Amino acid sequence: MTSEIEAKAAFDHIRYAQLWEDADVLTQGLGDCAGGMLVSICSAGDNALAMLTLDPAKVVVVDLSPAQIACLKLRIGAFQNLSHAEFVELMGARPSTRRKILLSKALEGVDEEIRAFWSALRDDVEKVGAGGVGKFERYFRIFRTRLLPLVHSAKTLDDIFVSRTSADRQTFYDTRFNTWRWRLLLNVFFSRFVMGRMGRDKAFFDHVEGSPAQHVARRIYHAAVATDPAQNPYLHWIIKGKHGEALPMTWREEHFETIKSRLDRIEIRPGSLEAFVSTGEKADGFNLSDIFEYMSPEVFAKVYESILNASAPKARLVYWNMMAPRRVPAAFAASVTTLSEVEGEGKAIDKAFFYSDFVVEEVKE
Ligand SMILES: C[S@@+](CC[C@H](N)C(=O)[O-])C[C@H]1O[C@@H](n2cnc3c(N)ncnc32)[C@H](O)[C@@H]1O
Repeated sequence: MTSEIEAKAAFDHIRYAQLWEDADVLTQGLGDCAGGMLVSICSAGDNALAMLTLDPAKVVVVDLSPAQIACLKLRIGAFQNLSHAEFVELMGARPSTRRKILLSKALEGVDEEIRAFWSALRDDVEKVGAGGVGKFERYFRIFRTRLLPLVHSAKTLDDIFVSRTSADRQTFYDTRFNTWRWRLLLNVFFSRFVMGRMGRDKAFFDHVEGSPAQHVARRIYHAAVATDPAQNPYLHWIIKGKHGEALPMTWREEHFETIKSRLDRIEIRPGSLEAFVSTGEKADGFNLSDIFEYMSPEVFAKVYESILNASAPKARLVYWNMMAPRRVPAAFAASVTTLSEVEGEGKAIDKAFFYSDFVVEEVKE
């Protein structure tokens, strides 16, 4: 089966240089996977690596984009060759003046093609970190450096990350953050036109309903008031261009050695998920990112069916929707159980705040 989006979007450079989906929520959603075979969309690779903390026998990683696979291969080299402190410097979470050196060190022993790919990006890596060189991160950088200063002072932006009670977060949001200038900025920057031009391929909006700006405003409320910004690495990167104290799961020191010791369980299969599901293998869990949103409802139903055929009993399908609604198609509703409680727990803590829905569906025995 070929993938619908394969024909539409250009995948020639890095779109996502870090993963903008919360791996804490993903791993919680996948549940007990010890000894099982998991499948993950690669994207920047962070979440496939986070899945190693679940102690699976194997994580099969697929992606249509060679550039995204190159992000995972860099991380594998970095885990092998760098200390944790060096790793977070290279990625851009922490300030650094030696990223070119760290990049060369991370690429030692990595295949020639990947070394050449990353060497061509070394100036950018030096400036913004390996986690900052994607098209999506560039979009956030333009927002941060050119537009945000027109709306908020540096002091207000720093103050977002002071830890507060939820009542005080509401007051801060109402009185200092959600100003008319801020609302104007959201409406312009998150218009379909600008997002399509700078962040996401226009093809990705074909199936999206509603205004992206309205959606973003609701989700920012979740990140700024419902949850604590001081604990939110994604919001921090968008506003400050690096991480603060809080890091995404895969980049946290507590998981570094576990992930490093299990890197040999990652099996990279460049190509589509649709190709994987036709091999006859049965997986115990899937990280499907938000790929369904990129498909028409008809194609989504076909792909969903093929995933069910490639699932072991009790396998969980975990995925997000950013704007387009996607849940088990009616035709297959009897084959899965929606784990609403697990979804609710995930949504409440989801720090990657852009998504409107988080889905966990378990295949019946
Ligand atoms: C769906 S995008 C979303 C990115 C995400 N929200 C993030 O934070 O990284 C993630 C990846 O899925 C890949 N992708 C999309 N459709 C796919 C498919 N049918 N099979 C394999 N990979 C796919 C893209 O190449 C991209 O690297």
